[in-house]
Amino acid sequence: MINMNIKILSVKSLDGAKSPVFVNFMFKDDKIFGELEKFFPQAPKMLKDAAERKEFVGDKNQTIIFTPEKKGKAYKLVLIGLGEKEKFEPNFFYQCAGTAARIVQKMNFEECLFSFNGMNKDLETIVFNVARGVIVGAYQYDNFMSKKDGKSFEFKKVEVFLPGFKGFDKYSGEGVNVGNAVNTARYLADTPANIATPDFMAREAKKIFLKNKKVSVEILGKKQLEKLKMNAHLGVGGGSKHEPRFVVIKYLPVKTSKKAKVFVGKGLTFDSGGISIKPSEKMDEMKYDMAGGATVIGALKAISDIGLKSNVIGVVPLAENLPSGTAIRPGDVLRSASGKTIEIANTDAEGRVVLSDALWYAQKFLNPEMVIDLATLTGACLVALSTHYAGFMHNDEKTKEKVFKSADMAGEKIWEMPLSDEFRDQNKSDIADIKNIGGREGGTVTAGAFLEFFIDEGTKWAHLDIAGTAWTTKEKPWMSKGAVGFGVCLLTKLANL
Ligand code: BES
Ligand code: ZN
Ligand code: ZN
Repeated sequence: MINMNIKILSVKSLDGAKSPVFVNFMFKDDKIFGELEKFFPQAPKMLKDAAERKEFVGDKNQTIIFTPEKKGKAYKLVLIGLGEKEKFEPNFFYQCAGTAARIVQKMNFEECLFSFNGMNKDLETIVFNVARGVIVGAYQYDNFMSKKDGKSFEFKKVEVFLPGFKGFDKYSGEGVNVGNAVNTARYLADTPANIATPDFMAREAKKIFLKNKKVSVEILGKKQLEKLKMNAHLGVGGGSKHEPRFVVIKYLPVKTSKKAKVFVGKGLTFDSGGISIKPSEKMDEMKYDMAGGATVIGALKAISDIGLKSNVIGVVPLAENLPSGTAIRPGDVLRSASGKTIEIANTDAEGRVVLSDALWYAQKFLNPEMVIDLATLTGACLVALSTHYAGFMHNDEKTKEKVFKSADMAGEKIWEMPLSDEFRDQNKSDIADIKNIGGREGGTVTAGAFLEFFIDEGTKWAHLDIAGTAWTTKEKPWMSKGAVGFGVCLLTKLANL
């Protein structure tokens, strides 16, 4: 679990601020510094020069560091661009505050002050995203670094100057909770697969919720999965000596409601492809094939830490897909727990197979108000939507509306794929009820159609393919490279709708 030790406090006046670094967020072509000018009379001139040199104009996430003199003490003034005022959305602060935190951290300062030029609306959203952005920005997966890369200071404090805003503690508190939950999901996905085995993941889930009495965590092992005849899940995990696990995390604060939103996350701790083995290039990245599961665990953490008043259950099927003498073969047929049979045409299309049993479990035992699954399901999704959008499919318009609204609030982009009979037909098998691949064409949609095949009449369901959005191979100004924690904020927002 990652809980950052960073305090985010509101300050009433700049005179009382103690931070050695002031960070000012500015719209494109902004020239005013407001109260900051008292401290940095040279700032407007410096900004003008920087704009003339085209060094800084205030484009989104553009940054510049000034060292203006201030009464003998060298203060730093950092400017962060917010982009054009007309295009601004309050959740931009998720990125812009992260960018600020990373700059200050890289300068080796322990604390800083944030000020804003003329922000007077959407302050709830801004404060939430500032806190979330700082916490996410400060995360770096360095567990195995013997020498911590040049970091002599821990980043400890952000003072926020936003006069006249009431409710700072509530919204910054929620932002901190979501930020820490995002980092927890990232840390699980960043942890290498020799450590993050199915059992490790299940035990981490227990640990994360140990102190929260409103959350129960149940772990099913191989024997229990056998009893439930979850042969699809067991089949995929059968090639590894690290046995499958199945985690159910229940947060049910609303006693009067019998239904819960059920979030299901693909938890392949490593995906080698199995007997249909993957090419070795980038295979190392397949340690993040449990990112859907990590996101579900993170979302349950955020939702329960904030104490939202809605019933939510997280389901995480965990397995490792390896080739061995006990692995499933291409051509095998598995009878899933639902009774439906699956022809395994390719052992690398394993996520959907594991999820078929998890979706059955959710519908059979958890009385879902809706089932939302998140999975690093297809490379095709990365081809179609890059790392920018998650692929979305659904069977219910109201659910779709809610998921899109949540995505919008979270600033996590999703894009709908057309789920129709042409794609369903591609999954037809000659020898079983369904085949686990539908050919190269439309790979993201045929995978979604496969999952839909295991959804009963009347169950409201939506699927997010996060293969592209869950991982970044490039460092971003607001985020270190590696796991992204995509979907944690989206699911947290969805819990409330
Ligand atoms: N885990 C992969 C999908 C993936 C690829 C996630 C790249 C993240 C980045 C999934 O299990 C898989 O291997 N899918 C196959 C399906 C194919 C065999 C039909 C794929 O996308 O190639
Ligand atoms: Zn695979
Ligand atoms: Zn996979």
